[in-house]
Amino acid sequence: MSFNGKLNVLCIGGGMISEEVVLPTLFQQRRNGKIDKIAISSLNSGILKRLQEVFPNEDFVPYPDPATTDPDAPFPDLYRQALGDLGEHGLVYVCTPDHFHTRMVLESINAGYDVCCMKPLCLKVDEAWEIIELAKAKGAYVFTEYHKRKDRAVRALRYKFRRGELGEPLYGHAWIEEPKYMPLKVFGAWAEKSSPFEYIGTHYADVYYYVTNLLPKRVVAWGQKKFLPKHGSDAYDANQAVVEWEDGSAFWIQTSWIRSDNNAAMTSQGMMFQGTKGEYKADHKDRHLNFETDDKGFEQFNPNFFKAYDSWDSEDGVEHVGYGYESNSQPLEDVLKLKTATDGMSPEEAVAKRQEMIAAWTELNTRALPENALIGVAINEAVRISVDNGSRFVEFGEGMQPRLA
Ligand SMILES: NC(=O)c1ccc[n+]([C@@H]2O[C@H](COP(=O)([O-])OP(=O)(O)OC[C@H]3O[C@@H](n4cnc5c(N)ncnc54)[C@H](O)[C@@H]3O)[C@@H](O)[C@H]2O)c1
Repeated sequence: MSFNGKLNVLCIGGGMISEEVVLPTLFQQRRNGKIDKIAISSLNSGILKRLQEVFPNEDFVPYPDPATTDPDAPFPDLYRQALGDLGEHGLVYVCTPDHFHTRMVLESINAGYDVCCMKPLCLKVDEAWEIIELAKAKGAYVFTEYHKRKDRAVRALRYKFRRGELGEPLYGHAWIEEPKYMPLKVFGAWAEKSSPFEYIGTHYADVYYYVTNLLPKRVVAWGQKKFLPKHGSDAYDANQAVVEWEDGSAFWIQTSWIRSDNNAAMTSQGMMFQGTKGEYKADHKDRHLNFETDDKGFEQFNPNFFKAYDSWDSEDGVEHVGYGYESNSQPLEDVLKLKTATDGMSPEEAVAKRQEMIAAWTELNTRALPENALIGVAINEAVRISVDNGSRFVEFGEGMQPRLA
């Protein structure tokens, strides 16, 4: 049967990023006619019951079903049944804690599906290579959701840099910091398995690579544990790293998740970059749009990321706009292109055509396909090795394998 232009989507994980960004994007894209069935798999049915309440007008197939299961009973393997039920033309969004990504991505590819994985793709270079090799062999599309690649404030830098307006890279710095409620409440269950660098710093490591196309040469990093250990968590409060790139330019990235809970926006972030011909400086949190209300106090509002606005086409409709929406929609658009281009081909021809299209996108380094996402994974792993070894330099060997210098 020929492709009808709609995908079946499974979202594995129903936590913060699913509720706030991924699912509103998927529901909107279903209204746009690009999606047929949506299924959501989560650890327990209590989470899915909550999603049914948050999205009362949106149909989805829940795994496990809140109507028939205890809200707290864990079903860590039920996503496999959801994969088995997804049907033809499936795309899987992996929205689970970082340390589960690898097996869920590999299993999705092996089940015959394309994947959108929340950043980081995985936590180890070895695992990234497993994903790269399997995806290549099967002609599978695996997109890592680094949404800053779609932020106009970052695209502006890339555009001017690539046209030579800033000259050659010399140095730069970035900061990305979140409030204490993130490691203590939002994902208290897995903060110790991650760190502020792996969780959010990876965005700016990826940005430098996305903008310059340079590979990292070596990394040195630091970590502090002063606040969280006094509050029952062994996670790092903060991490800082300097990445030296193959051209000798240096980029400092500072991260933390112990900013005040009274912060006027969830993520404090920004970046500067100095080249031989010019400078870029941008606050990516304060977009000079503030609200002050009785309910929420003072808010720095970022209209660019992911916000709801009144629909232009219906009285009470809502439309989501921003780089979070564009980034989560990109894999849908790309997979629709792959399906359309290979419609009617034999399986062998289809794999060859997919491999060709995916290789061309990888070369562009616009989407973070697995070989592009490898850079963020390698820098993450190097930062962890450096911090665990008294802030020694870590360099990259063959296949971007990090090792103590
Ligand atoms: N792009 C970004 O800036 C951004 C922002 C936030 C989170 N993230 C990433 O998104 C991912 C999820 O983050 P989050 O903040 O939503 O985390 P979260 O802890 O709020 O949610 C994780 C979800 O995974 C589910 N889960 C865990 N084990 C499962 C299993 N075996 N089967 C099915 N579901 C399972 C849990 O039920 C939960 O719903 C992480 O990789 C994180 O780094 C990215």
